Formats: sequence, C-alpha cells, structure tokens
Amino acid sequence: MADCVVLASGSGSNFEAIATRLADSPHRLLSLICDQPDAPVIARAERLLVPVLRISYVESRREAECRLERALSSLAPDLVVLAGYMRILPAAIVDLFAGRIVNIHPSLLPAFAGLHALERSYADPDSAMGISVHVVDHGVDTGPLLAQFEADRTGEPDLVQMEERIHTLEHRHYPRIVAEQLDAIDRYRGVRASR
Ligand code: GRF
Repeated sequence: MADCVVLASGSGSNFEAIATRLADSPHRLLSLICDQPDAPVIARAERLLVPVLRISYVESRREAECRLERALSSLAPDLVVLAGYMRILPAAIVDLFAGRIVNIHPSLLPAFAGLHALERSYADPDSAMGISVHVVDHGVDTGPLLAQFEADRTGEPDLVQMEERIHTLEHRHYPRIVAEQLDAIDRYRGVRASR
C-alpha cells in the first residue's frame, strides 16, 4: 500500500478518475487539497468521501504556501498528484517531495508548456495534440516525462470536441500511471524492508 494526495483547482474530472481507480486498489488517496473555495472538484471529493483540505490564497499567498507545506508534511504522502492544479508549487515543496510529484499537461511537451496549452495547440493546425504526464521539477512543465499520448485530430473537430478527446485520453491514462507509480513505490519499499 502507498499513499497519495491530489491537488486540484477546477472541475476535477481527473481527480474523480483517479479516486475511482484507487478505490479499487491497495493504495490510499489521503486527501484532496484545493485552492479554490467553490471549485466543482470539492463536491466530487465529498461525494466520493475523500477528505478535503481547502487552502485559501485570498489573504496571503505566502501564508497559503506555508499552510500547504505544513499540510503535505503532516499527511506525508508517498506521491503528490497534480490534477489541474493552477498554481506553481513553491521550491520548498518541490524539494520536500523531489521526484515524487507528478503532473498532467494537455499538450505534447515540451511544446505548449504553461497556461492555455490546449487552446494554443489547437490554434496551430500543423501541431500534433495530446497529453503528457511528467515528474514536477522547479520549472513550469519541464520535469522528466513519464508518458505521452497523441490525440486524434482528424475530422476537423472544433475546440470543444478536441477538449473531449484530450480529456478521454487523460482519464484513460493518468489514473493508470498514478496507480503504477504507487505500485512501484510499494514494491521498492518491500524490497528495502526485506534486506
Ligand atoms: C486537464 O486538462 C489537465 O491536463 C490540466 O488541467 C485540466 C484539469 O481538468 N492540467 P479537470 O479539472 O481534471 O477536469
């Protein structure tokens, strides 16, 4: 068994796909951490009985980041999963969980790193579209890639249809990759304990 925490800011469709996948695994989803008080992801977590920790950035970003660091330190997950988390993690948190933070990004990195990746890649008819899952480092969408999947761009889809195709790919692959990372952490721990 290994533990993870999901950080999300928005709709939470990836959060829900991950929570559903992990419910059927030996691993634990300890908490959803959300920085937006009214984000739909909160209702999803409540429905799935996943504990929610809200971190407000309204008064002070610095204070919020300290709270986030304290929360993650005390939850002590094996893996931190970013699923539509719209903030850059402070360096201290990246260091604390070095190599154990993963993110999903809706483009084929390194192309279209940063905000509005889907819209920007859609606007370029010659560019391939898809998703990337990567380990988080100190840059923005720059960490080592774990996997990439190209989306079908044929048939002149509009932006909404393309977004659906991207989400379908995300929901198919991200929960599986998160579960595989947790399996690997668990196996590694087992090997170390048997030495
Ligand atoms: C996803 O498209 C993901 O690639 C990006 O943010 C979006 C989150 O969607 N990082 P949702 O909140 O999981 O529905």
